[in-house]
Amino acid sequence: MGRPQVINAISIDPKHRLKTGIIEFDRALGGGLIRGSIILLGGEPGIGKSTLILQVAGGISDQGLKSLYLSGEESPQQIKLRAKRLSINSENLFVVTGNCIEDLFEEMEELKPDLLVVDSIQTIYTNALPSTPGSVGQLREVSARFLRFAKETNTPVFLVGHVTKDGAIAGPKLLEHLVDTVLYFEGDSSHVFRIIRAVKNRYGSTNEIGVFEMKEAGLKEVGNPSRLFLEERPEGAVGSVVIPCLEGTRPVLVEIQALVGTSPFGMPRRTAIGVDHNRISLLVAVLGKRIGIEMGDQDIFVNVAGGLKVDEPAADLGIVSAMISSFLDKPVSPNLVIFGEVGLAGEVRGVNQPELRIKEAEKLGFTRCLLSKSNMESCKSAATMKLVGIDSVRGLIDELF
Ligand code: TYD
Ligand code: MG
Repeated sequence: MGRPQVINAISIDPKHRLKTGIIEFDRALGGGLIRGSIILLGGEPGIGKSTLILQVAGGISDQGLKSLYLSGEESPQQIKLRAKRLSINSENLFVVTGNCIEDLFEEMEELKPDLLVVDSIQTIYTNALPSTPGSVGQLREVSARFLRFAKETNTPVFLVGHVTKDGAIAGPKLLEHLVDTVLYFEGDSSHVFRIIRAVKNRYGSTNEIGVFEMKEAGLKEVGNPSRLFLEERPEGAVGSVVIPCLEGTRPVLVEIQALVGTSPFGMPRRTAIGVDHNRISLLVAVLGKRIGIEMGDQDIFVNVAGGLKVDEPAADLGIVSAMISSFLDKPVSPNLVIFGEVGLAGEVRGVNQPELRIKEAEKLGFTRCLLSKSNMESCKSAATMKLVGIDSVRGLIDELF
């Protein structure tokens, strides 16, 4: 145990954070990798965890640091094939395969790596327990050993963990409290883009994201995600609205699409992809009650284009606008962005960081922004685009079309 120290006397080594060389990944980590930290990288099978983590290990090795990629799932040949595809060829990147942690630790003690990657934690077991690899007990025990290794040797350790669709029995959730940082790799395999999201970070803010595209030769960073998400936007289409969301500290423009039509079966359906469907029901109720737009008997589909998930209340006003646009069969201007929270009384509330959202929209060439009055007041001096503030959904239709 260390002795008590005066907090002012504790110094921080500026080389404390290792850069992986992958800017989007460093960003999600809060500016780089902390030595001695243990990081969980979770995601569904096939999403690209092994690809990403091999690229990270490659990036670290390129700086002359020794990385060890420990695989319990694949053969050295398979890993080599992937590395070839990713153009990784480093003298400092080592690969070892196996499942027994005692054997693996022997190898590690000899090699003394600067970075350790465990792919995946569910495939590693200890002889000390009789249970099968991947069981709750095994998972806890082997993770605790890697944690001890990270802290004792000041080596950063990545644990890759599979999440299964049904919530995972012995999955990454079980380890979240143990590790320093939890990253989830999201996206659906039918889309090319992937998002890495920090849901816990002892060394930075959470909700930071890094955006990638899965290409033939691995994951490519996307420096300007807004452009990517709006790439295939049908400009001037009915039911399509662009909203500036905030992902961590980063503004991202996304397109919300709504399709509202009379239900043929008298049993209206609500389908929401990328947004919470309870939120949609709430907003439909508000529209009916406050401005007499009755969508109760309509089928409503709401989709966030590109497969992104949006769970901010700031999206409310955009969702409402997209639904109204589809319901009335009138397009909104393609140069318009919309954000604001909608309350039960139909009031439009201000959201956090309006300047960031406005700046991002301006950067992408949007010329008009619909937002709450309070946000408008605080931003009007700095904005170059036209800001239109409303305090209730009652004023919305007049401004939309
Ligand atoms: P993988 O990293 O093996 O996923 P995980 O470890 O999360 O299970 O990669 C999954 C998919 O990515 C696989 O279907 C093939 C694809 N892929 C590419 O499209 N380009 C590439 O360069 C690589 C290595 C993989
Ligand atoms: Mg894998």
